[in-house]
Amino acid sequence: MEPIIALCKRRGFLYPSSEIYGGLANTWDFGHYGTLLKNNLRDMWWKKFVLQRSDMVGVDASTILPPRVWEASGHLTGFNDALIDCKNCHFRTRADHLIEDKIDQKVEGLTAQELTNIIKKNKLGCPKCGSKELTDVRKFNLLFETKIGIIDSDKSKAYLRGELAQGIFMNYKNALDTLRVKIPFGIAQQGKVFRNEITMGQGAFRTLEFDLMEFEYFINPKNWEKIFAYWQKEMWQYALDIGLTTERIRWREHAEFERSFYSKKTVDVEYRFPFGFKELWGIAYRTDHDLKNHSLKSGVSLSYKDIKTGEEYIPHVIEPTFGLSRLTMAIIVDSYQEEVVNGKTRVFLKLNSKIAPIKVAVFPLQKDDNLNIYARKIYEEVKLRFTCEFDDAGNIGKMYRRQDEIGTPYCVTIDYETLKDDAVTVRVRDSMKQERVHASKLLEFFGTNLD
Ligand code: GAP
Repeated sequence: MEPIIALCKRRGFLYPSSEIYGGLANTWDFGHYGTLLKNNLRDMWWKKFVLQRSDMVGVDASTILPPRVWEASGHLTGFNDALIDCKNCHFRTRADHLIEDKIDQKVEGLTAQELTNIIKKNKLGCPKCGSKELTDVRKFNLLFETKIGIIDSDKSKAYLRGELAQGIFMNYKNALDTLRVKIPFGIAQQGKVFRNEITMGQGAFRTLEFDLMEFEYFINPKNWEKIFAYWQKEMWQYALDIGLTTERIRWREHAEFERSFYSKKTVDVEYRFPFGFKELWGIAYRTDHDLKNHSLKSGVSLSYKDIKTGEEYIPHVIEPTFGLSRLTMAIIVDSYQEEVVNGKTRVFLKLNSKIAPIKVAVFPLQKDDNLNIYARKIYEEVKLRFTCEFDDAGNIGKMYRRQDEIGTPYCVTIDYETLKDDAVTVRVRDSMKQERVHASKLLEFFGTNLD
């Protein structure tokens, strides 16, 4: 991961958060190009799963939710991680990660005592100093607690959302009452969630706050397996749409013991990171767990009446969840390329042009007023249709290198010939092939290759 994380920082994809104050562990800021890339992934997701469908509506719910929501959902008791401390160097780590990394055994969902037993039986040591003197495993809740207002009492307690789903469930009745939706239908949401996690670095793979894209698809449970399989197919298709390498992704179904407390079936899409296959996204059959409990706790009926059949029931849900921050990291990993050209290593991001942060870069070949004026004119035209950058640093090799590392599919160079024949050089990122295109045909050329 080191060269990739170095590129992310060098080229403005990702920075450690609050760095001038020494940073805050496990928090990262997306820079200009990281933000553009993440937004492109989000927009493609929103278009595919909301705008191009007639059975999906959107919501942008509050990130602060009252304790009763999390009591009813089961997160106050069930949303836990297991931690363990080294008695020698006081390093704190996640017990499940310690076991999974050392003996490759999936242990999500096991009790603290069961985890302690595995660690002792396998004589596992501290990942930092190697000492076998470890505490017993303890569980801790992942929700970030906060206070509203100035009076510190139980009444002022609230939680930052630990998942998007609860904001969606809070709006299920609003959607039914106001949006003319009928089962089956989905409510989609994109935004930040917060989890008080202990993590082991690896860039933005696991952080304290991160972006998710998620929807709850409300169904009659009669044929949930068919609907589950349908959404699995759609999730896989989205991976293809954004250009993820299929050989590096796979499905993995959770065994019963590792499933979240709310799920009857969970299958993850795993991506092969440099540190192994890890969860990228997940799909879960949450049954009527959430709506049933919210209905009981709030006293508000959340049932659905089918006007055709007269059947009344609490809908079940299928939940496809896409980790967006993690996906952005995975996309950078997936597209990172090194190749030797003329004895020198060329680094580039082979990004699908649909998601590339910058589609076209325009430069004058040299620092020259006439070339500069021409190049600026081209840039002003192209930027109205495609995300475009202008660069006049002067050294063509350096300008290509920079755009390669950002993943820009096309670079346009204006040279002295251009001033005579109005043709520019278009250089293709992946092949490094160059071709002359008449300036008047440039938008058409990019329209064919980028749209
Ligand atoms: N509502 C279901 C839900 O939130 P989850 O498996 O807890 O499911 C969904 O999380 C996705 O969020 C994961 O598949 C992963 O991509 C991402 N994710 C989970 N924890 C994360 C963290 N600490 N940092 C970054 N991404 C994370």
